[in-house]
Amino acid sequence: MSPELARARTQRGATRVTLTSANPYQPAPARIMRISEEVADTRLFDLRFEAPDLAERFQYNPGQFIQLSILGVGEAPFSLPSSPTRRGAFQLCIRRAGTFTNYLFDHVREGDLVGVRGPLGNGFPVDQFAGHDLLLVAGGLGMVPLRGLLQYLIDLRHRFGRVMLVYGSRTPDQVLFRSELTSMSRRGDAEITLTVDATAGQPWDGKVGVVTQLVDNLHVDVPKTFAVACGPPVFYQFLLERLVAAGFGKDRIFLSLERRMECGVGKCGHCAVGYTFTCLHGPVFSYWDAINLPELIYT
Ligand SMILES: Cc1cc2nc3c(=O)[nH]c(=O)nc-3n(C[C@H](O)[C@H](O)[C@H](O)COP(=O)(O)OP(=O)(O)OC[C@H]3O[C@@H](n4cnc5c(N)ncnc54)[C@H](O)[C@@H]3O)c2cc1C
Ligand code: FES
Repeated sequence: MSPELARARTQRGATRVTLTSANPYQPAPARIMRISEEVADTRLFDLRFEAPDLAERFQYNPGQFIQLSILGVGEAPFSLPSSPTRRGAFQLCIRRAGTFTNYLFDHVREGDLVGVRGPLGNGFPVDQFAGHDLLLVAGGLGMVPLRGLLQYLIDLRHRFGRVMLVYGSRTPDQVLFRSELTSMSRRGDAEITLTVDATAGQPWDGKVGVVTQLVDNLHVDVPKTFAVACGPPVFYQFLLERLVAAGFGKDRIFLSLERRMECGVGKCGHCAVGYTFTCLHGPVFSYWDAINLPELIYT
C-alpha cells in the first residue's frame, strides 16, 4: 500500500483492509457467481475472487469502493453494497449508464471472470459510530453504499444504538433492496422508512414525499446520533441544511460523494477538487470537511 493511501485510511480510522494486490493498479480475477435484476436497469452482482486465499481474506470497510475491469473494455468504480462481516464473497449493485456498464449488462454473464482492484477510498468511520445512534438517509442509487453500512450495523447490532434509515426513491418500482429492507424492518433490526416521490399508480404502502420532510418528523436524540447521507446533489442541497437546523454538528454528518475517477489511488488527479482527492481522502467526508469544497457535493 502506498504511504499516501495508508495515511488517508489511518486518518479515518479505517484499517481493516486487504488489497487485492500489492500493486494497486493490478486487478485480481473474480468470478461472477450470480446476477439478479434489482430494479429496471440496475443489477446486483455476487462475486468471489478466484484465488481461494484472497476470497477468504478480502476485507474492507463499509463505504469503500472497488475498480471493476473487463479486459479490452475498461474499468469503472463501484461501491460495495455488501458488508465485510459476510466473508467469502461480495456484491456490487450497478446501474446501466454508458459504455462500460452497457458492455457489462449486454455481454457479461454468470460464471464469467472480471478484474477487481481495491478496496479503495476510506469508508465510513464505523469505530467512531460505536455506542451511538445512526441515522442513514439515502436518495436513489445512494442506497448502494448505505446498504453495506446497514448490513454491517445489523450484523454487529450490539455495538450500536438505534439504527434508522430513511430512503427515498422516485417511484415504488425504483426501490432497491425492497424485500430485504422490509424484512429488516419487520424483524425490528432497524427503523426503516421508505418514501417515493410519486406512486405512479403502483401498489405502495410506504410514504409519499421527499426524504427531507421525513427526517424532520423523526424523533432523534441528536447529541447521541451520527447522520450518514448518500444521494444525488439536489438531495444534499435540502438535507444538509435540515440536519444542521435540527442540531447536528457538521462533524457528525458524513456524506459519501462521487467524482469521475480513473486511477482510484490518488495519482491521476481526475477526482481532485483543490488538493482533495475523492478517491483517496474520500469518498466519505464529514460535512465539516466538505463544506469548503461545494463542488465536491453539488457537481
Ligand atoms: C466512488 C464511486 C462509487 C460508485 N458506485 C457506484 C455504484 O455502486 N453503482 C453504480 O451503478 N454506479 C456507481 N458509480 C458510478 C459509476 O462509476 C459510473 O456509472 C460508471 O463509471 C459509468 O461508466 P460507463 O462507461 O458505463 O458510463 P460513461 O459512458 O462513462 O458515462 C455515462 C453517463 O454517466 C455519467 N457518469 C459517469 N461516471 C459518473 C460518476 N462517477 N458520477 C456521476 N455520473 C457519472 C457520465 O457523465 C455520463 O452521463 C460510482 C462512482 C464512483 C466514483
Ligand atoms: S482517480 Fe486518480 S487521483 Fe483520484
